[in-house]
Amino acid sequence: MLVLDFGGQYSQLIARRVREARVYSELVSHRLSAEEIRARRPLALLLSGGPASVYAEGAPLADPAIFELGVPTLGICYGMQLMARELGGTVESNEVSEFGKADVALESSGVLFGDLQTDQVVWMSHRDSVTAAPPGASVTASSETTPIAAFEDPERGLYGVQFHPEVVHTPQGQRILETFLYEVAGAPPSWTPAAVIEEQVERIRTQVGSEKIICGLSGGVDSAVAALLVHKAVGDQLTCVFVDHGLLRENEAEQVVETFGSHFHVPLVHVDARERFLARLSGVSEPEEKRRIVGEEFIRVFEDEAGTLGDVRFLVQGTLYSDVIESGGEVGVAAKIKSHHNVGGLPADMRMELVEPLRSLFKDEVRRVGEQLGLPERMVWRHPFPGPGLAIRIIGDVNEERLALLRHADAILLEEIRRADLYRELWQCFAVLPAIRSVGVQGDERTYAYPVVIRAVTSEDAMTADWARLPYQLLDTISSRIVNEVPGVNRVALDLSSKPPATIEWE
Ligand code: XMP
Repeated sequence: MLVLDFGGQYSQLIARRVREARVYSELVSHRLSAEEIRARRPLALLLSGGPASVYAEGAPLADPAIFELGVPTLGICYGMQLMARELGGTVESNEVSEFGKADVALESSGVLFGDLQTDQVVWMSHRDSVTAAPPGASVTASSETTPIAAFEDPERGLYGVQFHPEVVHTPQGQRILETFLYEVAGAPPSWTPAAVIEEQVERIRTQVGSEKIICGLSGGVDSAVAALLVHKAVGDQLTCVFVDHGLLRENEAEQVVETFGSHFHVPLVHVDARERFLARLSGVSEPEEKRRIVGEEFIRVFEDEAGTLGDVRFLVQGTLYSDVIESGGEVGVAAKIKSHHNVGGLPADMRMELVEPLRSLFKDEVRRVGEQLGLPERMVWRHPFPGPGLAIRIIGDVNEERLALLRHADAILLEEIRRADLYRELWQCFAVLPAIRSVGVQGDERTYAYPVVIRAVTSEDAMTADWARLPYQLLDTISSRIVNEVPGVNRVALDLSSKPPATIEWE
């Protein structure tokens, strides 16, 4: 199923909800032509919401021929209004916008609403409304403010809802989406972790053939799952290379070697490249430059290693679907925010071909695949850790001394978070080392030392995040432990910013 993105804040969420219904979905640009869509043979189309007004100049439109493809289509919010506009209905601006929970009355004859009770609570967020449904379509829901809150033309397979079935504030929303998927579009709920593994193993075998392939292990769940998928597909044609770039957290290098070497028996080369990376990062403080250097150096080390392994043609990367979207890769609407090194920053002259078995998966889906593959719980649930590692959590100059300081503070923070049983509730939690120092007093001595910032966030997919409300008592314990145990730190601060407008990482 394809979700056409018109720039709405919930576009990705729609794709994820569809996947939760075990139907594979992809987010694609609204600019795709009907021919391109037909070529991808979707079982259904979903038109997302969006901030524009359908009659506004420059409003994102769809190729009108998509409505003639005979593919069942559900328009949500802006998507519904667009359908109305293209199919001969009308859309007008409301005097008042409708935002938040709304009561709607459903027509019991509506196909999309199956056997739902006729009075429902839904989530609305719109200024414009459909004021005349397209000819041939019948109105199947209404609210006080919005007389046409849904319409459908089952014969042509066209459905529109003004409200958002994808958000949790529409309690029956998932059921409505499932009715659309299963009943209307006839899409089977067959996209499970086991099916993903089977499909990816097949793909990897086809792409790699009998060639050798190497995979960089970072210690994170992504590279671990990617490596296990490839190992399942091509066995010992795979060599895993663990590059210790010196930008990892405490004890992390040891853990990777132990888990992969002794637990999974995957052929593993451990490269100590700490000096090489530090030398290149010396004096560099610009974040994107740090990313570029780490990304480039990482691949170079790989190529050196690969050179010693004979003729290796393929390289595994744990790129995720959200990386692809956020780097502006496939979907036209999302703006490029940061060049994640595993997508945007590869050196132009890289000589190996990429194998990216996670490119279509969201993080939670990678975890489920990891569980299915038998990856230990502690790796499956490990917080995401950026490829450039601590280099982008140390503001300013990255050197051995500042790395040691941050590692120590970070280890204390994580130890306390785990002890409080909050690790799994957080998307990420880490310490940041700013490039400033401040005055303090310790044991009658004046100090002039670094602060450490605690960054803890909750999130679904890293696209948006909220700062975690950690208990005061816990913050107090963390703060006093850090200032007492980490030399060179005299102050602890807490980051209270959500994303947007901040990002999760500080660089
Ligand atoms: P931001 O800071 O953009 O981070 O809100 C979103 C998620 O991406 C991770 N991140 C990175 N991952 N290379 C990576 O592999 C990078 O350069 C990079 N920068 C950020 C970040 O930890 C968070 O999970």
